Amino acid sequence: MKKIVVTGCAGFIGSSISSELLSLGFTVLGIDSLSSYYDINIKRANLRYLESFEKFHFLKKSINHLIEKDFNTHEWDLCVHLAASPGVLPSVDNAEEYHLNNVTGTSNLLKNLNEVGIKKIIFASSSSVYKDNGIGLFKEQENETSPLSPYGKTKLKGESLLAEYHKKMDFDVLILRLFSVYGPKIRPDLALFKFANAMLENQPISIYGDGTSQRDYTHIKDVVKGMLSAIRFISENNSIMEIINIGNGNPIRLNTLIKLLEKELQISAQVNYIDSKKAEMQYTGANISKARSILSYNPDIEFKRGVHEFIHWFKENRNYYGA
Ligand SMILES: NC(=O)c1ccc[n+]([C@@H]2O[C@H](COP(=O)([O-])OP(=O)(O)OC[C@H]3O[C@@H](n4cnc5c(N)ncnc54)[C@H](O)[C@@H]3O)[C@@H](O)[C@H]2O)c1
Repeated sequence: MKKIVVTGCAGFIGSSISSELLSLGFTVLGIDSLSSYYDINIKRANLRYLESFEKFHFLKKSINHLIEKDFNTHEWDLCVHLAASPGVLPSVDNAEEYHLNNVTGTSNLLKNLNEVGIKKIIFASSSSVYKDNGIGLFKEQENETSPLSPYGKTKLKGESLLAEYHKKMDFDVLILRLFSVYGPKIRPDLALFKFANAMLENQPISIYGDGTSQRDYTHIKDVVKGMLSAIRFISENNSIMEIINIGNGNPIRLNTLIKLLEKELQISAQVNYIDSKKAEMQYTGANISKARSILSYNPDIEFKRGVHEFIHWFKENRNYYGA
């Protein structure tokens, strides 16, 4: 399987997986609408790098408007579907837009993939689909899904659409539930970026709640590794329908993250604690035993090291974000 469609290729995770695939010699059709969710210049910079590879083909288009003809340049083997409106809190006031991009868009993508005969798909779902039960690491089959946010709801609906295409159209499907991805080229709306950036600019940072909430931060290199294993697995197997957590398995408190940043940056954070938001989970944590057994997934980057490396990268590359 050497020819892969990547939706959302200009984004944080999409550009990271696309560049890895291109480095490995794959041909990639990248599709991205270059949405304005965050500074489009960051996406353009991501794209410029991808366009330095001969085997990269780019289509600037919304997945909502795809038609069969868009896929007829090559015989594509499979699709890695990452295009979406991301972010939990912004979804609260923009539920319709999230539904349009993440559910209607996924539905149109699936319809087109089916028509052109691309019947293998890997979908980026999210830890946001889980019920925040405070019990412990989320397990794919045992923990209930009950998303708090419109974003989480759209991801769960996306999962159902894929399951339907598996049942009725014989699609092979891998649903990867990703947990708080961070690292070089991180999305600028994510906590690690916002906090580090504010601290370097001597600005206060705002935290929802008292800082005891926890996230299972997962380094982008581990996510890319997980996705490569997923590509291998789905390429070599048929009749696949699996939901797999891709996390780190070690939730970290927000206050711990801030302490780490203070140490790395040698700057004291000015923290404003504000009321927590209903749509935000208090806890996310991935049980990764299924990923270990099916994908031989084994995250390498422990959080302290990941933050250390991220801060080093961030200081050298703040111009990436227009600083
Ligand atoms: N970053 C995380 O921590 C995380 C965690 C869980 C799940 N995810 C999922 O992983 C995927 C990638 O996330 P990311 O952090 O790289 O976000 P991102 O915003 O950087 O990337 C998403 C890309 O999709 C594009 N896009 C949005 N709507 C589109 C549409 N209708 N048609 C075509 N392109 C469209 C955007 O322009 C963007 O480049 C998303 O599906 C997200 O929900 C991310």
